[in-house]
Amino acid sequence: MTKLGVDTMQITWPAEGFTRVPYEVYMDPSVYEQEQLKIYRGPTWNYLALDAELPQNGDYKTTFVGDTPVVVTRDSDGEIRAFVNQCAHRGATVCMDSCGNTKTFTCVYHAWAYDGKGDLKGVPFRNGVEGKGGMPDDFDPAKHSLQKLRIETFCGVIFGSFDPHVGPLQEYLGEKMCGYIQRVFNRPVRVLGYNRQSMNNNWKIYFENVKDSYHASILHTFFTTFGLNRLSQRGGIEMDDTGMHHVSYTYGSSDENEDAYKQANLRSFNSKYKLEDQSMLQGRKEFADGITLAIQSIFPGMVLQQIHNTLAVRQLLPKGPGHCELHWTYFGYADDDNNMTTIRMKQSNLVGPAGFVSLEDGGVGELVQRGIVRDKEKSSFVEMGGITVQSQEFRATETSIRGFWKRYRELMGY
Ligand code: FES
Ligand SMILES: [Fe+2]
Repeated sequence: MTKLGVDTMQITWPAEGFTRVPYEVYMDPSVYEQEQLKIYRGPTWNYLALDAELPQNGDYKTTFVGDTPVVVTRDSDGEIRAFVNQCAHRGATVCMDSCGNTKTFTCVYHAWAYDGKGDLKGVPFRNGVEGKGGMPDDFDPAKHSLQKLRIETFCGVIFGSFDPHVGPLQEYLGEKMCGYIQRVFNRPVRVLGYNRQSMNNNWKIYFENVKDSYHASILHTFFTTFGLNRLSQRGGIEMDDTGMHHVSYTYGSSDENEDAYKQANLRSFNSKYKLEDQSMLQGRKEFADGITLAIQSIFPGMVLQQIHNTLAVRQLLPKGPGHCELHWTYFGYADDDNNMTTIRMKQSNLVGPAGFVSLEDGGVGELVQRGIVRDKEKSSFVEMGGITVQSQEFRATETSIRGFWKRYRELMGY
């Protein structure tokens, strides 16, 4: 018998370990296939939605875990559920809207109908037509539910897992990362809007960019020129015990070391640029700890950001070896006054697919994918800030990128 399933091709990782990344892992279709099984359907918790997106019973949202389509619902009892968006009959996508409210999900193909728990409730012509045809007598609808995911919620953030054995969510996140999630989700939030972008690069290249605090003020002219984020400001990187999640933070109220940038003569520092409308930079101080910029990554594909007063979750979704999508959800707090909402909306121009800052992150990933196309056997070099995986009180480092690859290799068996 032929065993169908994942190609078991092995990557030979360079002897230097997680300070090198073989370019092959960004391109090879069999690596992509293995990631779907070993990471996204493996022992991970994947961001699905915010509780605030599903306030009423019957509310739902469609999303993905890896490239598997998933529906998240608040069922008729008020419980959060998630199931694979794949009909138990012949596999069609059942729910095609991005969000809505319903009691029943009905597949367009043959109209099998499921409730908000994903249980099969109706099969048209189950007893045939005029006594002919129909399902066999032993057909049991209870055996044909949509495939359910495990669900756990922390501070109003909903995560799902395919793995029946993965430990509790809070254990997966670790105490430090829970602290940073709690810091942002400290009270009820209100969703302000969405953005989506499509990128022609492997998902891991974007995730590296998120973990790469070192690039932020070198690549991004807006950040550096207008003093929003510079490596010379006080800040650092915190990681969980495994190294798979991180947060990079900046105390951006002043830049005592501004001359470091002038002397380095970086493209991104251009004192000739001025903003005609300064209001973009005039936010409100809102976190008591004085941190003005905190970017947190939760393995394998969630990013929680506070950039001044913009708060957002980014969900990174693989769409093939050389393609990925980023789904942005912007939010504020339910008790924000109108002026605060205006500030958040205005500052949201920094981020998103065409943001003054984030546009460059989308672009640079494609530069990497384009640059490495013919050199699978070569590898990247990740030694900024040392060769270890540890929290550091500075940001000229690639430590959290090394942390990502450490955990990635463990899960993938490389
Ligand atoms: S595939 Fe959904 S009802 Fe047939
Ligand atoms: Fe960036």
